[in-house]
Amino acid sequence: MKKKWLIVGTVVAAGVVGAGLGLFYSLPLDLRDRSPRQPLAFSHKLHAGANGIHCLFCHRAAPLSPLAGLPTLADCLDCHRFIAPEAPEIKKLQAFWDRREAIPWVRVYSLPDHVYFSHQMHLHAGVACNACHDDVAGMERVTRSASLKMGWCLDCHRRQRATIDCWTCHI
Ligand code: HEC
Ligand code: HEC
Ligand code: HEC
Ligand code: HEC
Ligand code: HEC
Repeated sequence: MKKKWLIVGTVVAAGVVGAGLGLFYSLPLDLRDRSPRQPLAFSHKLHAGANGIHCLFCHRAAPLSPLAGLPTLADCLDCHRFIAPEAPEIKKLQAFWDRREAIPWVRVYSLPDHVYFSHQMHLHAGVACNACHDDVAGMERVTRSASLKMGWCLDCHRRQRATIDCWTCHI
């Protein structure tokens, strides 16, 4: 009799802890703006769309590391010393450079620290950027298209017969 209640108690406690963890990790993502305003009006539609600049030209780290990385101010100015230097947003860009200040881009996609993710592995497996980020080249401002919930990862892993072992993503 005592043993039975101990088991029930443990199961209930585990449920409460699980629900608590779920709330803790899921609330911030859902409340986050999916399309945050950026400190500078950078348009993927103009760069990657109309001007056809390749994603990896600016996100060079993606095939080589867990992160995709963002271009530096120096990367922007390689072009913008010559392209539209008088445009107001480019003057803003130049002003960041003159102040030696990095542009404080607002993150659109990010995972909690307890999840392991790597761009390199996915690109090597032939998963395209737009399978996870949707049509960024058509976006004036980046909008997060995926929930980034565990179910989102697992759905694709099941479809593509990739691993769903817990320890792959939770180290
Ligand atoms: C490979 C060259 C290249 C790089 C690198 C580049 N741009 Fe551009 N950018 C362009 C071109 C081409 C245009 C379109 C110019 C036009 O149509 O007048 C443009 C236009 C812009 C505009 C609009 C200017 C206007 O006329 O109002 C902004 C703002 C801008 N870029 C910001 C950036 C930022 C920020 C970066 C770095 C993260 C960057 N660009 C990197 C080529 C580049
Ligand atoms: C000319 C440089 C440039 C090119 C080309 C470019 N990007 Fe970006 N990308 C940026 C900059 C700068 C940011 C940060 C500002 C923003 O979010 O718009 C960014 C942000 C992003 C983000 C959001 C990152 C985050 O979580 O905050 C994604 C996703 C992304 N790019 C995907 C792509 C894809 C896919 C392509 C190709 C279709 C591409 N980019 C082409 C410069 C570029
Ligand atoms: C399998 C899904 C997936 C694919 C494919 C993918 N991404 Fe991502 N991307 C993510 C996730 C998830 C994050 C958030 C990662 C984090 O917070 O650790 C992210 C973050 C980013 C960021 C934010 C900055 C950073 O350094 O991580 C950029 C930029 C980006 N991705 C660009 C790209 C580009 C460009 C491609 C194609 C070359 C690409 N991604 C392919 C899922 C993907
Ligand atoms: C659009 C499909 C897709 C999405 C979404 C996706 N993955 Fe993957 N993932 C794959 C494929 C395909 C592989 C490669 C499987 C292989 O090479 O055997 C993979 C592999 C991985 C690996 C390496 C597995 C290993 O065997 O070492 C990790 C870690 C991983 N994914 C984490 C994540 C996480 C975390 C998310 C969600 C934030 C995610 N993935 C979302 C398709 C996806
Ligand atoms: C392909 C990657 C992947 C695999 C495999 C995976 N998880 Fe997750 N898990 C995630 C991501 C991404 C999150 C973050 C979700 C969020 O923040 O909403 C997460 C969150 C969690 C959380 C926090 C609560 C929640 O639901 O947000 C728990 C607990 C958890 N995972 C347990 C597991 C267990 C147990 C397994 C094995 C059955 C597993 N995970 C397998 C990607 C994965």
